[in-house]
Amino acid sequence: MKKNWKTAVAGSLIVGLSLVAVGCGSSETTAPKDNAGGSTGTVKEYKVGTDATYAPFESKDGDTIKGFDIDVLNAIGAEVGAKFTYQHISWDGIFLSLNQGDVDLVASAVTITDERKKTFDFSDPYFDATQMIIFKKGADIKSLNDLKGKVVAVQSATTGEEVVSNLLGTDSKDIKRFEAMPLALLELKNGNAEAAVGDNGVVLEYVKNNGADGLETVVDTSFEKENYGFVVKKNNSEVQKLLNDGIKKIKENGKLDEINKKYGFKK
Ligand code: ARG
Repeated sequence: MKKNWKTAVAGSLIVGLSLVAVGCGSSETTAPKDNAGGSTGTVKEYKVGTDATYAPFESKDGDTIKGFDIDVLNAIGAEVGAKFTYQHISWDGIFLSLNQGDVDLVASAVTITDERKKTFDFSDPYFDATQMIIFKKGADIKSLNDLKGKVVAVQSATTGEEVVSNLLGTDSKDIKRFEAMPLALLELKNGNAEAAVGDNGVVLEYVKNNGADGLETVVDTSFEKENYGFVVKKNNSEVQKLLNDGIKKIKENGKLDEINKKYGFKK
């Protein structure tokens, strides 16, 4: 994953730099009264990029984008007097869009990593996650090590890809990389991969909706705790601060807990 991630970022930087700098897109609008949160009567609008193929965090419902991340941002917006508008951008182009200024932030169940911090700034964490292995009942998989010699599907340039690449080797032909997580899970369903690895919340959502397939999951003891953060362009402290102010408020006032309960992440 390291290689892919770096390649993707290097690519975005080159393209980003070769383009004329684009303004960051936030704009003042008159606040609808129930949305303002602040006392000024105006809210700032921010464009959010999200790979809306990642239920329950972000997915499409007709033309609207919904999910945990959207609820969290909307709750933040209500606290700090900001309005967020959402657009789907596929994962492989999402950080390029951020660098180009097409969007002001990325909200896409993004794990905060040291590697990514070299290129982007993150908000404070708003969700804890970990990797999870998913396979069909009967496959003899009890730990990460059991994936050796098996074909494993992952979403490219994710932390899931990273754990599998670290185990099997980046160049292993047993790793099948997909641009979107549902494609990796489809590969498992179709029997063209023996396992898939991805974020626990997304894997469990898939099991919930496809349980009849006879699926099983396991979290390896080596899988680290991951934190999701919202991503802003390097040094965009305005948006970073706004997000952190909001995250602090919704942690304090119980809104974040409420959203976690809505999605079954907390009781
Ligand atoms: N949390 C993982 C990562 O940051 C996967 C995120 C993928 N998100 C998405 N919306 N496709 O690498």
